Amino acid sequence: MKLRKDRVAIMEWKAKWIKPQKDMGDVVPEFHRTFSCGKEVAKAVLKITALGVYEAAINGKRVGEFIMAPGWTTYEHRLQYQEYDVTKLLNMPGTGNCFTVLVGKGWYRGRLVGWQSSPAQQELQKNPAGLLVQLDIEYSDGTCTQVLSDSTWKVRESSIRFSEIYDGEICDAAAEQSAPEETEEFDGPFDHLIPQEGEEVREHERLVPKEIFRTPAGEVVVDFGQEITGYVEISVNAEKGDVVDLSFAEVMDKNGNFYTENYRSAKALYRYTCREGQQTYKPRLTFYGFRYIRVNAFPGGPEHVSPDAFTAIAVYSDIKRTGSLRSSDPLLNRLIENIFWSQKDNFLDVPTDCPQRDERLGWTGDAQAFAKTAAYNFDTEKFYTKWLGDLAADQGADGYVGFVIPDLLKADDPSTAWGDAAVIVPWEVYLAYGNKEILERQYSSMCGWVRYITEHTTTPGLWTGGTHFGDWLGLDAEEGSYKGASRDDFIASAFYTHAIMLVIKAGKVLGKDTRSYEELYHTCRDTFLRTFGECKTQTECVLALHFDLTEQREKVSAQLADMIQSCGCHLQTGFVGTPYLLHVLSENGYEELAYTLLLRQEYPSWLYPVTKGATTIWEHWDGIKENGDFWSSDMNSYNHYAYGSVADWMYGVMAGIKPVEEAPGYEKVRIAPVPDSRLEWFEASLDTRHGHIRSGWYQENGSFRYEIDVPVEAEIVIAGKTYDAAPGSYIFYSSAKKEAQC
Ligand code: BGC
Repeated sequence: MKLRKDRVAIMEWKAKWIKPQKDMGDVVPEFHRTFSCGKEVAKAVLKITALGVYEAAINGKRVGEFIMAPGWTTYEHRLQYQEYDVTKLLNMPGTGNCFTVLVGKGWYRGRLVGWQSSPAQQELQKNPAGLLVQLDIEYSDGTCTQVLSDSTWKVRESSIRFSEIYDGEICDAAAEQSAPEETEEFDGPFDHLIPQEGEEVREHERLVPKEIFRTPAGEVVVDFGQEITGYVEISVNAEKGDVVDLSFAEVMDKNGNFYTENYRSAKALYRYTCREGQQTYKPRLTFYGFRYIRVNAFPGGPEHVSPDAFTAIAVYSDIKRTGSLRSSDPLLNRLIENIFWSQKDNFLDVPTDCPQRDERLGWTGDAQAFAKTAAYNFDTEKFYTKWLGDLAADQGADGYVGFVIPDLLKADDPSTAWGDAAVIVPWEVYLAYGNKEILERQYSSMCGWVRYITEHTTTPGLWTGGTHFGDWLGLDAEEGSYKGASRDDFIASAFYTHAIMLVIKAGKVLGKDTRSYEELYHTCRDTFLRTFGECKTQTECVLALHFDLTEQREKVSAQLADMIQSCGCHLQTGFVGTPYLLHVLSENGYEELAYTLLLRQEYPSWLYPVTKGATTIWEHWDGIKENGDFWSSDMNSYNHYAYGSVADWMYGVMAGIKPVEEAPGYEKVRIAPVPDSRLEWFEASLDTRHGHIRSGWYQENGSFRYEIDVPVEAEIVIAGKTYDAAPGSYIFYSSAKKEAQC
């Protein structure tokens, strides 16, 4: 799908793209130029971007706080530039100013994707590290001047000898500063430069070591107590040439040894050669997903490591927290915390599957599964708006949507439930924030996805044919397969009708003529009902119920409950069924069973990883098995947010806070909490565009007391009774329910 011209803010660039005249290989180039301002400066505004990731400084002071700028977009179509007010960084008139910019490989020129060399990426890798700078200076007397990137800039090899997304960074602070070399102008991309659209990626939490210990293998390991995405800042008093060498890991193996196999080919290393004296340093142009570091080398030897030598810094998009969930159950609280962390850890400019192994890609299936939860937890409007812009830009002319966005994989066939990010994510963003603009921007992309399916299916009215990931990681998979037992045609046809429905809904919001989609929807629903009589798996039941693809709700929900109970009262659903599982149970009279699944502690369950010490959401329910073995070394991430989508059931059903379709963005609110006596209390709160909502329930002498605050007109449903409420705070009571049987 080609970019609409009006989306691209056209700006007059006077600057030239520059690159090192001589290729510097793996070494990160540092572009530089000096300039002086003859008069007092009233304002100085810098516009800057790079082919790679940049860190700019003026007079040694960092420009802005954006880590990994200019961010990750679908570079063939869109490249962001940033604008910073740098007035305060400039020296007094008459004194020189020194402008330096490091440009690392980042996502642009890195070896993405990690397990294969993507042709699209190979093309990008041929490009040199490029820089574009335009500094507009306005003097107090009203006159103006500019500092522009051009071939008068020089470049030198920086102390960063290597930097890449998967493999980490190597810095030699002891090396002599290398001599300036020439830059040259080149024909870089101007036509698809866009102003910063997403959230800036910034540093957030700083964690001190929780424990430093020696493993049975004799290695020195630092545990930060929490898996994060970011890097480690080191602070040492060293002799010139001393080395700090670190490896990163998510988990320790069952013998208590440092374990990195699940990073696959990602080397995730950090090697820093010290200069003389006290110094503090951190990686500048990469990131790691980790909880532990192994200290391979340290001044005086790893045994000299002290806790104040290391600080872990969490790095992620600057999303503002909006939601909170708390309960009387410590395990559930830890699960909730893990969901928040996995979101932060996988919101580094693009919604990724995981932040550590040789993927870290914007997998569309994972993104759509988690989008609703994400929009409760944090304000994700800007973040997703940018990513959806990339999705639309990467979309094929025939409506194809990739497995990952930016689409480095360019698969032959799209997959159901992955490509559906094109319709589900914009709709969730609209529901959460009530802003039509996202639908306006994405509507043609949404229609494109439906068109793709309509034109490529081998059976009109269904989506048959193609290749799909299916109910990825479903536990009913055949031995050795990642794909659950649910039928591809069933899943694909169900998501197809859902996609059409979302296009209809979006179209109505935008005042479009949706009649042809309505007709298509009815044809597809009828065909679905005629074709798929029986549901065969838990996920099939879930989809039939959630997407309204059954005339026998009672029967199908009883079948689902029965399937859950008869397999030992646990879920078997994968990426496709799990996000909706508890919703369909509670919507169809099985709320106690839904709670049973949520509160279950044995494998497979949400709480099982928590009992194993998880601090983030795992890719597999049994990433670490009961006996301490790993599920596998190949596909075993401990920071995959997809199953964290259960939080939207906690907000939406346990606390009963759901957006109302007719009044999106919580302009009007409906609160319908569903308590369960296995918890003493539960509370949720949400900052919305229309104010703060709180909904909590507490057991009290055999009753539930509900405390509800609403900032706008609301409908409050307590134990089946509906109350119309004006903005304010309310207390209700209902009798406590019986415990579930399972
Ligand atoms: C990713 C997933 C993704 C899947 C698709 C994996 O390697 O980590 O989360 O959705 O592939 O098959």
